[in-house]
Amino acid sequence: MATPGSSRASLPQDLRHEIQKLEEQFSTDAAKLKQITDRFISELDKGLSVEGGSIPMNPTWVMSFPDGYETGTFLALDMGGTNLRVCQITLTDQKSEFDIIQSKYRMPEELKTGESDELWEYIADCLQQFVDSHHADKSTIEKLPLGFTFSYPATQHYIDEGVLQRWTKGFDIAGVEGENVVPMLEAALERRNVPIKLVALINDTTGTLIASAYTDTSMKIGCIFGTGCNAAYMENAGSIPKLAHMNLPPDTPMAINCEWGAFDNEHAVLPMTPYDILIDKDSPRPGQQAFEKMIAGLYLGEIFRLVVLDLHNKEHMFLNQDMSAFKKPYSMDSSFLSAIEEDPFENLQETYDLFNKMGINSTNPELELIRRLAELIGTRAARLSACGVAAISKKKGYKTCHVGADGSVFNKYPHFKARGAQALREILDWPEKTNPRQEDPIEILAAEDGSGVGAALIAALTLQRVQEGNLAGILHLENFK
Ligand code: GLC
Repeated sequence: MATPGSSRASLPQDLRHEIQKLEEQFSTDAAKLKQITDRFISELDKGLSVEGGSIPMNPTWVMSFPDGYETGTFLALDMGGTNLRVCQITLTDQKSEFDIIQSKYRMPEELKTGESDELWEYIADCLQQFVDSHHADKSTIEKLPLGFTFSYPATQHYIDEGVLQRWTKGFDIAGVEGENVVPMLEAALERRNVPIKLVALINDTTGTLIASAYTDTSMKIGCIFGTGCNAAYMENAGSIPKLAHMNLPPDTPMAINCEWGAFDNEHAVLPMTPYDILIDKDSPRPGQQAFEKMIAGLYLGEIFRLVVLDLHNKEHMFLNQDMSAFKKPYSMDSSFLSAIEEDPFENLQETYDLFNKMGINSTNPELELIRRLAELIGTRAARLSACGVAAISKKKGYKTCHVGADGSVFNKYPHFKARGAQALREILDWPEKTNPRQEDPIEILAAEDGSGVGAALIAALTLQRVQEGNLAGILHLENFK
């Protein structure tokens, strides 16, 4: 079977040899994927154990799936890697329906490596603006319940706290790691007198899982393939040894934010290339997020940039060309690779133009290498990410289910879905389809809006369970009255 989106070329010997080398370095055959998946399963278990492992497996205190009949009006704040979004979501009386109003704010690049205060002040400003423009008379409204999507690894002893374990996705703000971020946000809101009470801090993957399950009860896993890469699923309390001290009934559901980006931080199975090692070394958190650094959107363009520069430095391509456009770290995002993979022309005219705009004149063999390199990087990302989905499915014994996925790479990167589906087929040894329209046993599908609707649903589910007397994992009961 042909690989989706692969290309052939007639190349002079010199570059053909380089391509072969890259193909070897970036290859992930079925046997390798199976080996990775097996290790992944044991690492998921380790993360749930008292001793812990590389993958954090954070309990989230999200303790049920929605049934579609949740109601109420909630604010949601999404602090992702790229944008800041504030939404007001009304879950209506109609099953699985909601109304949403939202505003997007740019997340200024400087904030990601700036001071903690500046970050919280900026976020509080955005929330204030939103509340001011949608609730003209603030003095008369009761405090609005907020679900805060904070998409970084956080320890949660309670659903309304989140102690940042470490920054990921290139963030590096001093004074936040090891701290509970909720009081930081609350203090900034209080300074502005914004009538908001935080009821749930959530991860984007947990939001994705819950939002997707709101409309499709076959959804068992929520994934993000975007700036970062991660997943959440529903575990039973009895299978989480590190929660044994809570004495929850063993069949109590508990959503787990895996933080699987940290898989193989010990570098035991992932087929790392010299470029992956360089990315890790020069990142703000070397040794962290090994899996994520090979898959997520933040890194795909950077891997590409490093390979091209290396081949240029070794005098294999772009001889005597001005490579200054390639000198700045992280200057190429994954949309650059998408554009190369999407070039419809046999002569790769659009790719030629792309490089020409950067002052680089490429020959046909160079264009062929560029295209193949983009394919290799994009294919490796999709195939490795399938190992995580396969691992959770195998661990939970899911023979069939839906997986809700969101994020720029999943939604926009060409062939990502088809390549991931093909890898799942190889890992899980599914028979060939008899009818091409038949669903795969495990399908990765576009998710509902996790950090908006998902956050609102989690706030609603939490208020509901508190009212019913389930106070597990609640810190500030007064906010749930
Ligand atoms: C990073 C974060 C994780 C998040 C993912 C996707 O891996 O650590 O919390 O879910 O990116 O945004």
